[in-house]
Amino acid sequence: MTVSEATGQPLDRVDGRLKVMGGARYTAEWDVPGLVYGAVVVSTIAHGTIRTLDTAAALRAPGVRAVLTHDNAPRLQPLPEKVGETLFRGEGGITETRQPLQDATVEYAGQPIALVVADTHEQARHAASLVRVTYEERPPQLDQHTAARQSKPESFLGSKEEKLQVTIGDPKAALAAAPVQVQQVYESGITHHSPIEQVATIAHWEQRGGTDFLTLYDTTRGLDNTQAVAALSLGLPKERVRVICPFVGGAFGAKGWLFAPVLLAAMAARVVKRPVKLEWRRQEMFTVAGQRAATRQTLALGATRDGKLTALQHDTHTHSSLSSGFTEPCARVSRMMYAVPNLGFSHQLAHLNLPSPCPMRGPGETVGGWALECALDELATELNLDPVELRLRNYAEKNPETGKPWSSKNLRECYARGKALIGWDARNPKPRSMREGRELIGYGMATTMYPAGRRKAAAKATIFADGRALVQSATHELGNGAYTIFRQIGADGLGLPVEQVRFELGDSALPTTPTAGGSVTTATVGPAVLQAARAAVRALQQLAARDAKSPLYGAAPEAVEARAGRLQLKATPATGETYAAILKRAGLPSIVGTDEAQPGAEREQYSFYSFGAVFAQVRVDEASGTVRVARLCGVYDVGRLMNPKTAHSQIIGGMTMGLGATLMEETSYDPRNGRAVVRNFADYHMPSMADTPDIQVEWLNIPDPFISELGARGIGEIGCVGTPAAITNAVFHATGRRLRSLPLTPDKFF
Ligand code: MOS
Repeated sequence: MTVSEATGQPLDRVDGRLKVMGGARYTAEWDVPGLVYGAVVVSTIAHGTIRTLDTAAALRAPGVRAVLTHDNAPRLQPLPEKVGETLFRGEGGITETRQPLQDATVEYAGQPIALVVADTHEQARHAASLVRVTYEERPPQLDQHTAARQSKPESFLGSKEEKLQVTIGDPKAALAAAPVQVQQVYESGITHHSPIEQVATIAHWEQRGGTDFLTLYDTTRGLDNTQAVAALSLGLPKERVRVICPFVGGAFGAKGWLFAPVLLAAMAARVVKRPVKLEWRRQEMFTVAGQRAATRQTLALGATRDGKLTALQHDTHTHSSLSSGFTEPCARVSRMMYAVPNLGFSHQLAHLNLPSPCPMRGPGETVGGWALECALDELATELNLDPVELRLRNYAEKNPETGKPWSSKNLRECYARGKALIGWDARNPKPRSMREGRELIGYGMATTMYPAGRRKAAAKATIFADGRALVQSATHELGNGAYTIFRQIGADGLGLPVEQVRFELGDSALPTTPTAGGSVTTATVGPAVLQAARAAVRALQQLAARDAKSPLYGAAPEAVEARAGRLQLKATPATGETYAAILKRAGLPSIVGTDEAQPGAEREQYSFYSFGAVFAQVRVDEASGTVRVARLCGVYDVGRLMNPKTAHSQIIGGMTMGLGATLMEETSYDPRNGRAVVRNFADYHMPSMADTPDIQVEWLNIPDPFISELGARGIGEIGCVGTPAAITNAVFHATGRRLRSLPLTPDKFF
């Protein structure tokens, strides 16, 4: 069976119409009979202890059913360190260790310290405003550089492969001996995911046969993790917690990491004995829904006069919260991108009285790759060498850290095509040499990459007697196109036209898949969908082979093929019958195939990455310091595309987010009290249509021969990586000024 009839086609989003017509139901839009509403009270100090929490006025307010505080909230089970391969706590844990309302300690401004439950949303909000709190305040640690508690994490999310403190060769000596050196400090501020859909949870307890069951409608990109954290915290077996989320309105790394809303809603629902809906306001999205950590990165490059890198040292200092060990792993690009014999990187965390950071699109790669690719540009200037040529001279034919061959790498083609698209060779390479009126014009480029992960997943396919089919897997639709591409892959696996196949996701009761993170979903769930679909067809084939009335009676499985809802002999396709006919004669309403797919030994043999090259043209108004991105072109080597249309959206979305990170996005905290100063979309600037050029995206569409039969690597994050350095380098070319602090707001020019 070839996986190409539907797979690889630019099918429209199957959920597109539902979404624009308002028919796609997001978490806060679910209704459950008897629903009541929660509203959080958050701390106004960043560090200390709650002395008094006066809830009397709130309790007297109309409609109020309960006010939960650390004094009266149900006790939660502390999360274990590790369950299976999932780390729950401490350095590398998937969540902040801190569970809500379990003690009087305040670790950051905006921490949930009480939850009001009332009959309506408005009543809950009003009552929340009546809660009075006094604190024993302690001076907050808010400066990453002077913070008392610093740590040196050993690995990223507990991964055995991804060590965070690494030295290969002797980078120090090689740097000292290098004829050409670049050493610079690059800084980036805190940024927020800012998905359009805010975080929400509905918790609904039911008794069935004297046993408690909990249903959670939750905005999550990790059904499995949400289920696990809820079950562990509430002391229930996992089977008694069901998490439902058919649509996520954007996540970008948020939603699926921090679990306070889930636990708060579950506790509240237990206390008031009614289903409780809890919605985060936009302000709360800036304090309790995760963020990208601020970074300070020191990059040192040593090279020969002809531009061969001899040493690379990348030292990262980021912040984390008091109760999280999450590290923005900034050396992720440095560790693998160029053929450097002496390589070193280190990571240090400052534990601050700020909310917990978590992954944000291209965690590590986006700002770490920015620093590296800007340093490369500085080196190219030092060497008076074309920036693309510098990268070609250091092209890594294998992974420099592990020595493993790439599964597939065609980056040279990306550079060549990107140069042609932007008109690289037609520019005047001299900095500050191109001008139009008040505007300085500049060109810049950067390499981009993203690790091509794959994990274990399961799926189920059901063929019905009317010839239609349903494929199911507990994966996530975050705007990534999951409904669409898994329907395409499922249809090919089933040998059915795509219109006859439905795909369901977003329910933890379906076969399990991992969190939609690290751009692994396509490579992880795709093969499971394909295999489950084939298992269903195989079951049909066996049915036919055993049925004396079937034209396929006695036929060997290898002799039979599936085509357009029909099983037939490969040698004589006229001999065969439809799926519907087989099921009807057997008197069966449907037949099911299930399977699990996971990566194998290839993971040990090859190094799996996607690659790309990004080129930008900027116009800088010298008088105001305003940077406009006039053109943005990206050429990507991401394996085989499952759907060029949804892929295009993923990539331009990523590039737009990269543009925002470069020019405008930053959340500041008041250095005196740790409160977020930027807490809404008037202050947190993201690219509007007017800020965003017509982005040109191309891909090589060369299948990865080793990742899976589908040949597809993930594309969720690679667009965000690379773009910031391409723009920053273009700003240098336009102005002759090196800006080493993101975002490149106009004030930084003066
Ligand atoms: Mo992605 S932000 O690594 O989940």
